Amino acid sequence: MDSILVKGGAALNGQIAIAGAKNACLTLMPATLLSEEPLTLTNAPRLSDIKTMTTLLQSLGAEACSMQDGQVLALSSHDIHNHTADYDIVRKMRASILVLGPMLARDGHAVVSLPGGCAIGARPVDLHLQALEALGADLDLRDGYVHAKAPGGLKGGTVDFPIVSVGATENVLMAATLAKGTTVIKNAAREPEIVDLADCLRRMGAQIEGDGTDTITVQGVDRLGAATHPVVADRIELGTYMLAPAIAGGEVELLGGRIDLVEAFCEKLDAAGVSVTETEKGLKVSRKNGRIGAVDVVTEPFPGFPTDLQAQMMALMCTAEGTSVLEERIFENRFMHAPELMRMGARIDVHGGTATVHGVEKLRGAKVMATDLRASVSLILAGLAAEGETLVGRVYHLDRGYERLEAKLSACGAQVERVSTK
Ligand code: UD1
Repeated sequence: MDSILVKGGAALNGQIAIAGAKNACLTLMPATLLSEEPLTLTNAPRLSDIKTMTTLLQSLGAEACSMQDGQVLALSSHDIHNHTADYDIVRKMRASILVLGPMLARDGHAVVSLPGGCAIGARPVDLHLQALEALGADLDLRDGYVHAKAPGGLKGGTVDFPIVSVGATENVLMAATLAKGTTVIKNAAREPEIVDLADCLRRMGAQIEGDGTDTITVQGVDRLGAATHPVVADRIELGTYMLAPAIAGGEVELLGGRIDLVEAFCEKLDAAGVSVTETEKGLKVSRKNGRIGAVDVVTEPFPGFPTDLQAQMMALMCTAEGTSVLEERIFENRFMHAPELMRMGARIDVHGGTATVHGVEKLRGAKVMATDLRASVSLILAGLAAEGETLVGRVYHLDRGYERLEAKLSACGAQVERVSTK
């Protein structure tokens, strides 16, 4: 099994190109199921989660092939012959639930396995299901599967989410494009990935207004057509690599980075003593002066501080001057990186959804274990700042969301390599 070996202490200088967003691509790909005509996605990230979604779409009868070294995905769903998303694929990746809305909207029936729990909490799909019911879907849960029907097609309706859900907003947004009449989605997620999905659906012929706000209105159409769409930049990959020079020193330019994707995060970096400036090609990041200061963070839906950057921010706070409080409000079990960071000398107290981090002057390299995608990269960031060697195990988590991480960091002078361990 592969591990990542980080030799700490080197400052980072250079450029890192930001890939297309994993989370955007994972919702854009199922959009192919809405149309009989081709959907081409450019700027796709090369990640194992994208391969898993490709396998799922192919299992349904879609054609999916990757070109240009995986950066272009050519998808076509003219012949969907299987309407069941099997447990063996869905359990690997929760985003698989996103095939439910599109299949149901186009063909009037779909069977999708329930995803089950995951490392960062129970993560139910009740909101996805309630939203589709509001569009007239008839749902039956049995044998671990959702059996969904809408024999006469879905009908526009009002969906009012009790809490903001990115995935449920995406599922019902896709479904509503082919529902008869008007759908209003209230308390919708406002993430850039939702706006990217709406842009792509509009290119396919959908009528959508209000994406990027908390109320999205969709006027259903009879059919959607072909489209080519570039995947938006990955704000989580961007934020992660912005933290690399913040934690290790040096100056790195993030090519394709945009402030509007990471505004709340940039405010915290500024307060901690990290300089972020816009350049022609992206964003340049370095430490202002001296040691990083402690800042408090509360995770919230966009435009708030993203939960997917909480673990990485904690790594930075481990070496900050003073005490910071990180409150996780999106997922109930998302501090599994804390005990691993403590193996590296960090001082962290976790109580429920709150972690109190007492900054130390130096972390020390250690053998640590990745527990989920963002947790694993937080350990690599910590390793960049630590004295000695850090060996991060279970890197298959990392490969789900970071393409060529070792190459990107090494090009800036970091000592990071993939090694085979038993
Ligand atoms: C997406 C992202 C994930 C990110 C998360 C929050 C993808 C593939 N994944 O996940 O990286 O961390 O947004 O920004 O885009 N909930 C329910 N019932 C539901 C759905 C969600 O109770 O039916 C709860 C969740 O348990 C969680 C909260 O709502 O507490 C928000 O989750 P949600 O926004 O749905 O996250 P995902 O779409 O799964």
